[in-house]
Amino acid sequence: MMKAFTLVTLAAAVVSAAPGQLLSKRALTPQDIDPRTGCPGYLTPGEFEFPHYITQISKSQPDKAFGPQYFGVFTPNDISSLFTFDIPASRAGANCTLEFLFPAQSQLKTSSYSYSGGGSFFFTGYAPGSCPDGQTTYNNQPKPGPFPPFPPVHMEPGNAYVIDIGPCFVGAGTCVAGMTSTTDTSFSFFQDYDECPIGLYTTYSYL
Ligand SMILES: *[C@@H]1O[C@H](CO)[C@@H](O)[C@H](O)[C@H]1NC(C)=O
Repeated sequence: MMKAFTLVTLAAAVVSAAPGQLLSKRALTPQDIDPRTGCPGYLTPGEFEFPHYITQISKSQPDKAFGPQYFGVFTPNDISSLFTFDIPASRAGANCTLEFLFPAQSQLKTSSYSYSGGGSFFFTGYAPGSCPDGQTTYNNQPKPGPFPPFPPVHMEPGNAYVIDIGPCFVGAGTCVAGMTSTTDTSFSFFQDYDECPIGLYTTYSYL
């Protein structure tokens, strides 16, 4: 079936990309610098959500609850990060794009991240309305979503990755969450928006 983070459940007919195909990747070039902020990225004020809850799970510590976190943290085959978005009911008529902004370190002013490894990442969606909380662990994850995980997405610094596009009504008025994991990469970043945006965002669009 198609790619599915969480926003897509009913989007099969809307999205025509091949199974598992990354919808798009674009380099964050100097031309992409937002003149208002001096930062790379594509976030239009008022037209995006940052994750309202981030936590981790660990396969090797399957009963550890990490609680609320500000960093996305990944280690090969062990620590995965869960990102939750709250989609207001008022966005039911928009399209939601799930995007990972991954500026190069040289494009960031003050924030930093650590990244090493092959860059293979997997995105899996949970069922809309079933989202992580302080009790979430590897053994106690939110309910699985209706679609299988994506095939790996190769992510490396200096690019923005569109993971998924689908109608927002699937999650409007509730939360939508997903897990991002890796088999080969150690990666830790501060999910920032105040300085230059980095990390996972949901953006709204209207044709
Ligand atoms: C959402 O995307 C679909 C597919 O591209 C398009 O047909 C539809 O008009 C879009 N809806 C809005 C509100 O932009």
